[in-house]
Amino acid sequence: MGLKLNRLAFVCSLIVFLTISAVSHAGVTSSYTRVAEPSEEMPLETFPPPPGYNAPEQVHITQGDHNGRGMIISWVTPVNDDGSNVVTYWIADSDASTNQTAEASTDSYRYFDYNSAFLHHATIKGLKYDTKYFYELGTGRSTRRFYFTTPPEVGPDVPYTFGVIGDLGQTFASNQTLYNYMSNPKGQAVLFAGDLSYADDHPNHDQRKWDAYGRFVEACAAFQPWIWAAGNHEIDYAPSIGETEAFKPYKKRYHVPYKASKSTSPLWYSIKRASAYIIVLSSYSAFDKYTPQNSWLEDELKKVNREETPWLIVMVHSPWYNSNNYHYMEGESMRVTFEPWFVQNKVDIVFAGHVHAYERSERVSNINYNITDGLSSPVKDPSAPIYITIGDGGNIEGIANDYTYPQPSYSAYREASFGHALLEIKNRTHALYTWHRNGDKESVISDSLWVKNRYFLPEVETSMV
Ligand SMILES: *[C@@H]1O[C@H](CO)[C@@H](O)[C@H](O)[C@H]1NC(C)=O
Ligand SMILES: *[C@@H]1O[C@H](CO)[C@@H](O)[C@H](O)[C@H]1NC(C)=O
Ligand SMILES: *[C@@H]1O[C@H](CO)[C@@H](O)[C@H](O)[C@H]1NC(C)=O
Ligand SMILES: *[C@@H]1O[C@H](CO)[C@@H](O)[C@H](O)[C@H]1NC(C)=O
Ligand SMILES: [Fe+2]
Repeated sequence: MGLKLNRLAFVCSLIVFLTISAVSHAGVTSSYTRVAEPSEEMPLETFPPPPGYNAPEQVHITQGDHNGRGMIISWVTPVNDDGSNVVTYWIADSDASTNQTAEASTDSYRYFDYNSAFLHHATIKGLKYDTKYFYELGTGRSTRRFYFTTPPEVGPDVPYTFGVIGDLGQTFASNQTLYNYMSNPKGQAVLFAGDLSYADDHPNHDQRKWDAYGRFVEACAAFQPWIWAAGNHEIDYAPSIGETEAFKPYKKRYHVPYKASKSTSPLWYSIKRASAYIIVLSSYSAFDKYTPQNSWLEDELKKVNREETPWLIVMVHSPWYNSNNYHYMEGESMRVTFEPWFVQNKVDIVFAGHVHAYERSERVSNINYNITDGLSSPVKDPSAPIYITIGDGGNIEGIANDYTYPQPSYSAYREASFGHALLEIKNRTHALYTWHRNGDKESVISDSLWVKNRYFLPEVETSMV
């Protein structure tokens, strides 16, 4: 009902926009709010360790090289026993002679009064494209078996579907987001826009919450790669309890293939997957001119060959175009630094998290200004990315439902509900983007758009809201 009214309001405002002047805007603020109260945290006991002596747990995988023929397999064991760091893998439907093994590097860490279990990360390489593999963890008394499918070989018209999730946490709402995503068989890999466990919202950054999160997302992340970006909840900087190494738990637990893109930090890196080139940035690392992240990004953008990977997608935690009072303008200094490059390089989409609500921008830029000319408001720009805020995974901090009014012209659609998105790349020109709000029983598509590629089809899209 509310949605229908909104559609009507949208059509009306479009007509007004077309007939009167450019001052009007066509942005939609959905009146739908799922729940205003923060969702309850799933208790630690919800996620007991798997049964069996020293059973591998908290299994997750991510791409392990630049092109998609490698996988990083990560798991945890309570004891560092013989064979607990070994992964055996084979192509589905092949005979045992094809079985290969790899040894993980094993590490552990201390945080305040917590000692982690043993964290294993194995990188397997030289996999066949577009192939289903099984893998088995541990050669000891308790083994566990999982599987994944490698992506097709990189190429301009390779269809591929990414799920997009941010700020997930581990509440009952987070669970709904995760299972809604998993109930749809389309998603092949997840772009995760930062803020994983929210352990830091608990006393002394209760590190058991990192373990619980690992067990929670295993249901999905053991079977398809999650491409991680770091958010502010990964910083875990707490000098009052003697913890001064930023990002320690995150870096120990979640490995990414940053060296494959010549990055010097796991907080920023890139991968190619199917027809997409994904660049991950860090809102919480230095990015001004002369800093490592800045120099890396400058070189990185030159490497992108749109004839090979037409879809240029960026992930960063703190949004640049956000019309919510929550975290308003926190991404501004990074926007000022990098936005001209994104426009020059015709980035297709920027996914961000941080704000616990959903928002999609128009294609706008705000780069034609300097400190004296007074030109500093966003203008429609067909070379600009679409900015999507998807920090609506459903974490313990609750929904961000305090928008700025009037809705700024850069904001196309905004809604204070939890959910996730799918980006279905069809070919070099078209991708179907849908945002799925969490409903009572099923996830409802509440925003969608045929995204047109900036390099091959730089027409401005018409919203389907
Ligand atoms: C090796 O390969 C076969 C498939 O032919 C499989 O059944 C077997 O369990 C594999 N794994 C291990 C750990 O030996
Ligand atoms: C999470 O969601 C799934 C699917 O709806 C459900 O089976 C499971 O019980 C939920 N877990 C919790 C702790 O609510
Ligand atoms: C800023 O813009 C004004 C007006 O276009 C121009 O006169 C001035 O030279 C610009 N300043 C810089 C530093 O580019
Ligand atoms: C690309 O995909 C879109 C959407 O499915 C389709 O309409 C279009 O014809 C496709 N282009 C080519 C060249 O196949
Ligand atoms: Fe955040």
